[in-house]
Amino acid sequence: MVDVILGLQWGDEGKGKIVDYFAKDYDLVARFQGGPNAGHTLYVEDKKVVLHQIPSGVFHKGVINLIGNGVVLDPVTLKRECDTVASFGIDLKKNLFIAERTHLILPTHRALDKAAELSKGNQKIGSTLKGIGPTYMDKTGRNGLRVGDLLDKNFTTAYIKLRLKHQRLLDNYNFQEDITAWEEEFFEALEFLKELNIVNGEYFINEQIRAGKKILAEGAQGSMLDIDFGTFPYVTSSNTISAGVCSGLGIAPHHIGDVIGVTKAYCTRVGGGPFPTELDNAMGEELRKIGNEFGATTGRPRRCGWIDLVALNFACMINGVTKIVMTKADVLDAFEELEVCTDYRIDGKESRKVPFQMDRKIPEPIYKGFKGWHTDTSIIRSYEALPETTRTYVDFINGYLGVKVHYISNGPGRDQIVLVP
Ligand code: GDP
Ligand code: IMO
Ligand code: MG
Repeated sequence: MVDVILGLQWGDEGKGKIVDYFAKDYDLVARFQGGPNAGHTLYVEDKKVVLHQIPSGVFHKGVINLIGNGVVLDPVTLKRECDTVASFGIDLKKNLFIAERTHLILPTHRALDKAAELSKGNQKIGSTLKGIGPTYMDKTGRNGLRVGDLLDKNFTTAYIKLRLKHQRLLDNYNFQEDITAWEEEFFEALEFLKELNIVNGEYFINEQIRAGKKILAEGAQGSMLDIDFGTFPYVTSSNTISAGVCSGLGIAPHHIGDVIGVTKAYCTRVGGGPFPTELDNAMGEELRKIGNEFGATTGRPRRCGWIDLVALNFACMINGVTKIVMTKADVLDAFEELEVCTDYRIDGKESRKVPFQMDRKIPEPIYKGFKGWHTDTSIIRSYEALPETTRTYVDFINGYLGVKVHYISNGPGRDQIVLVP
């Protein structure tokens, strides 16, 4: 059986912490999409670690971690991350596997990402500049190079051919930066990558399923950044939703068990694009400060706002969410009053549906007010001990979504989590 943990908002919901928390109950944790645009934060031995490429189960000895075919892989980031993980005494030869069909992010993909963003001016996506879009373009355009190609004697020839093609595009953009240093570290990292466990991901994972092993698929980004169902074009370039698990790992839909959706108790977004409940004011500033809302990958300040139940309901529908984990509830401790968006007003009409194009006309949020709990909840470990006001807030969300919040996370630490009975 394959359970899934994924983000229900615009990313950074706390997936890393939650995957790390649940990983001990699984035999294998697999990433199925995205690349180093992801930044998943966890605390190991009280030290903060941010993972970009390696699944968040890697710190549990005995748990196998798989980078699936749906991921795009930057060997340079991977090498750096492997060094960090190994410094905790983790033997990557034993617990990290990489699917041979995984597409490689080349230095020129990063350059193209940067050039494309620059050319968009104020319509830029706010990409992480990690080369995600151009790499997925080469995948669907049937040009890309994959991890398995590394073992082919013609790899260098294929690399040069693709690089030339990219150079013509870069010339079109008038991109002048020298990327020689990027290429040097890329080739060095490729030698490192070749020494890791490169496997046929689809047979690997299906053999695990047949052997009755428990698998956890770890999403990156969030449902509202999905290439099909997110706020296009302000999205990432992969299917971040549960459907992406099947194509991103090579497993059949009937193997999917629980789909665990992670949402913050409020909402954030980093990069461009519509965000109906954004608080572009002192309140938003306070959420950012208390929630330490700065990008784990780029360090950019995250835009902050109230929880958006219209968007969450949409995400639950698209993903088939069976359980919800609400993170960062403790960040709301400081607020006397809270708001929850229950409806959008679009062209004077109220609606509970996410419209086709949110950026042309950003929906006006309609809020329901709640009393804040105004007390330190980060030390609480049982649902009964949570203030009545917190439970009222959670109950309302449960009722609206028709899917229950099963866990409330109230701090970044591994033990800071409350089971909802
Ligand atoms: P991800 O990309 O979904 O894994 O999330 P990020 O790691 O980018 O961002 C989540 C941030 O919130 C990280 O700094 C986490 O350490 C932190 N975090 C996770 N859960 C909680 C929580 O319940 N409370 C607080 N205060 N911080 C949390
Ligand atoms: P995790 O896994 C938050 C955003 C970028 C940009 C858009 C496209 O940590 O939740 P891309 O580099 O993918 O071409 O950028 O998507 N974005 C994220 N925002 N968390 C992430 O990952 C993100 N990955 C990409 O800011 O707006
Ligand atoms: Mg993140």
